[in-house]
Amino acid sequence: MTTPVFGIPAGHVTDPAAYFQRTEAVLGHRFRLDTIVASSRERVLFRAHDRTLKRQVSLRVNFFVGDEIRTWFLREAEALAQLDHPAIRHVYDAGTIGDLAFRVGNWIDGEGLDEAVKRGPRLIPAVHGLARDLLSALDHAHACGIILRRIAPSSLLIGFSGHGTVTDARFSSWTLPAVPSDVVPTDQAYMAPEVRTGGVGDPASDIYTAGAILYLAATGLEPPLDTAGVRRPTEIRPTISRAMERVILRALRPAPGDRYMNAVEMLEDFASDAGTFETPAVLPGTLRPGDNEDKARWEKRLRRALGDDYELLSSLGAGGFGRVYRVRDLHLEREVALKVLHPLLTRDPEVVERFRREAQLAARLNHLNIVNIYDIGGRAGLIWYTMELINGPSVAQLVERDGPLPLDRTLRLLREALSALSHAHGSGLVHRDIKPENMLIERDGGLRITDFGLALALRGQGKFGGATSQSGTPQFASPEQLLGERVDQRTDLYSLGAVAFFALLGYPPFRGATPEQVLALQTLNDPPSLTGARGDVSEEMEQVLRRALSPEPSGRFPSAAEFLQALNRATRVPAPGDRGTDWEWAKAASRWLRFPPP
Ligand SMILES: Nc1ncnc2c1ncn2[C@@H]1O[C@H](COP(=O)(O)OP(=O)(O)O)[C@@H](O)[C@H]1O
Ligand SMILES: [Mg+2]
Repeated sequence: MTTPVFGIPAGHVTDPAAYFQRTEAVLGHRFRLDTIVASSRERVLFRAHDRTLKRQVSLRVNFFVGDEIRTWFLREAEALAQLDHPAIRHVYDAGTIGDLAFRVGNWIDGEGLDEAVKRGPRLIPAVHGLARDLLSALDHAHACGIILRRIAPSSLLIGFSGHGTVTDARFSSWTLPAVPSDVVPTDQAYMAPEVRTGGVGDPASDIYTAGAILYLAATGLEPPLDTAGVRRPTEIRPTISRAMERVILRALRPAPGDRYMNAVEMLEDFASDAGTFETPAVLPGTLRPGDNEDKARWEKRLRRALGDDYELLSSLGAGGFGRVYRVRDLHLEREVALKVLHPLLTRDPEVVERFRREAQLAARLNHLNIVNIYDIGGRAGLIWYTMELINGPSVAQLVERDGPLPLDRTLRLLREALSALSHAHGSGLVHRDIKPENMLIERDGGLRITDFGLALALRGQGKFGGATSQSGTPQFASPEQLLGERVDQRTDLYSLGAVAFFALLGYPPFRGATPEQVLALQTLNDPPSLTGARGDVSEEMEQVLRRALSPEPSGRFPSAAEFLQALNRATRVPAPGDRGTDWEWAKAASRWLRFPPP
């Protein structure tokens, strides 16, 4: 996490040691000072620990430099104290002791919006979430008679779950009478024009502020001071939803009367058009396995949580949602695989609930080619489930090491996968994340599919819902998934078709780096020629696999069973007992086992 720094004015020499000492002397008996997170000449923000209530707090301290600044500081504390909303920082306490004034608020783990957008614009669903947080906070403030007038991006904290919290009321209408006359607010792009010139403003002024903040979050750019000629958000970033663009642009109109009247009106207009865009539980890319120290800490925590139930044996791999370990079930005395969800995911009770529901559904599946789920458990803030341990590589690992698979191997893989999918679809469960990493090969060469239904549970139904693999590439997702449309069993058939190309060619059929690129290739290009690439694939078989990759679901096979029939018709079904190169295959798989990947 980066520590937000709230604009240390250039030229001021800040002396953290002195800040610590002075504050410690006055408040040390009540708070343990942990770190300075922001400072300027006369005010400092500490992360501190309340010794009595045993909780982390934010401790804002003002050193006396003059009556005006002191009055302003206390007045701002008052303003925040009028408000009681989850998206506004709470003030627990404030006071003056000697030459030091302070206020105590809740601690928020996160970073300023300015820091967050340095990495690029926020994910679209996160912008939607921010709109909801911000507008509901503004509505609350307005109901309390307070106009915020300005929200500096650095003071809008973004927590790990993506939620936003307003922490500053420095220029609010409540505080305004106490703002020293020579103070010029920074971040004027986030103030309505009528407020920049000193007006108190009204709810429509805060609508402008909300529009400016959302413009920044969605595009990564600060809106110009004169928004009459503002660039349209979709011009900067085509994936911004039309609803979001429309709402932002209306909020940024120079004349207050052209904007929304109040936050509720803006929120309703947005919500009625935005659909049910779920905020992803976590941003892709933030769950990569960290450095060794991180991993060691994490394993220690897991070991503690597993207690006497499971013994941690070794790591099997890490994916987008957590890590998979080989563990020993100490009650049943057998080895199982245990997938522990990343703690960032399990902070959201809704995600945990959805995860439990999907795990229950997946646990009902009983099929030779589907990895059995044994149990779901959790302790000490961690959630995991246990499943059958598969002692074999994934199709991704096999192809990476040995290149394209033999034809009969691929056919066996497809037949078993289609049999598994037919069973799951019959039970109403769509996998949604069929990809080579989720297809494990047993010692005897048999296929075992993992992660049924979990993509939906963990990533929600939002755009690209459950459609990106561990590496963040969506190359096995169906077009309708990438478009964020409703998916059904035919999505799995598409993904399996892509896996077939991957197995036969050694690379996926559409190799784009981003969901947008993959989508463009899927809908505009033909898949690469299989018969051209290898002599053992028949025209008939190629036709079948191409049909699986029809961009329109209606162009594909309607069911796994029909896909399987067509595949069997197009290829010779081996007579019972004719294991052919299966034997070779089993040997290859066991070679793999002796030389596991590093
Ligand atoms: N039941 C299992 N038995 C053995 N290995 C497994 C099992 N489930 C998953 N794995 C291994 O753990 C790795 C990480 O899995 P996962 O977290 O689902 O990420 P991904 O599927 O994106 O690779 C997989 O690539 C696979 O090699
Ligand atoms: Mg997986």
